[in-house]
Amino acid sequence: MQTGDGRSSVGVGPVAGGRSTQSSGVKLYMAQDKPHATGRVAAGDLTQRVGVEQIQARGVDVDRLIEKLVDAAGAEFTTYYYYTILRMYLAGQEDYKEICEDARLEDRAHFELITPRIYELGGTLPYDIRTFANRAGCPDAYLPGSSDGQHTLRHPRDIVTSTTPTEILTVLLEAERCAIRTWAEVCDLTFGKDPRTYDMASRILQEEVEHEAWFIELLSRERDGVARPSGHFRRGTPGEAPYSKNGAFYNP
Ligand SMILES: [Fe+2]
Ligand SMILES: [Fe+2]
Repeated sequence: MQTGDGRSSVGVGPVAGGRSTQSSGVKLYMAQDKPHATGRVAAGDLTQRVGVEQIQARGVDVDRLIEKLVDAAGAEFTTYYYYTILRMYLAGQEDYKEICEDARLEDRAHFELITPRIYELGGTLPYDIRTFANRAGCPDAYLPGSSDGQHTLRHPRDIVTSTTPTEILTVLLEAERCAIRTWAEVCDLTFGKDPRTYDMASRILQEEVEHEAWFIELLSRERDGVARPSGHFRRGTPGEAPYSKNGAFYNP
């Protein structure tokens, strides 16, 4: 029999507590040969997490990271809500609606991807959704013409009608830019120290960079009549999220 490092373990007797007995000329495998078998977190202790201890030992401020992730998750969640409205009001612009829908659903995917990580680190989402929305790390993406969301409906069909694609695309673009800044910061906080959070943040960041490019392209044409290509071609299905859902990239 070969062990993982290629050394023979033939003739080594039953292992008890990490020790083995020796038979003719075979190297002893003692507990000290398994340096990761134990550590600072005591065996059976459920109040501590080795997954947290290890990233702390590498310099991550875990409490600060959790706070950043909750703020970032709040931004994704609220953006998903506001983009629902913004997409509706891109009325009559099917291409804009479709691209806004991809960005909207991918923000939901970002929320879904990062939220379990908050719990793995020992944190939680706020128990009140109002708290969650208020601490979102990006501004509310209000519908232009809605008086920063305070438009009062005198009756249920008294909707905003004075918004324009240029105004909406501007809100979308700036929301994406806030998201890029947010996830770039999380990447900085975790690079080389917390590969799991870094991987998630990096996947999200890649889609946010795409989203910014899409809205630059659309706003540039809509507002300025200038061609600024993003390299975009439509997702296979709405909100496909190839990076954050670990799917296939468009590469025909
Ligand atoms: Fe997002
Ligand atoms: Fe986005």
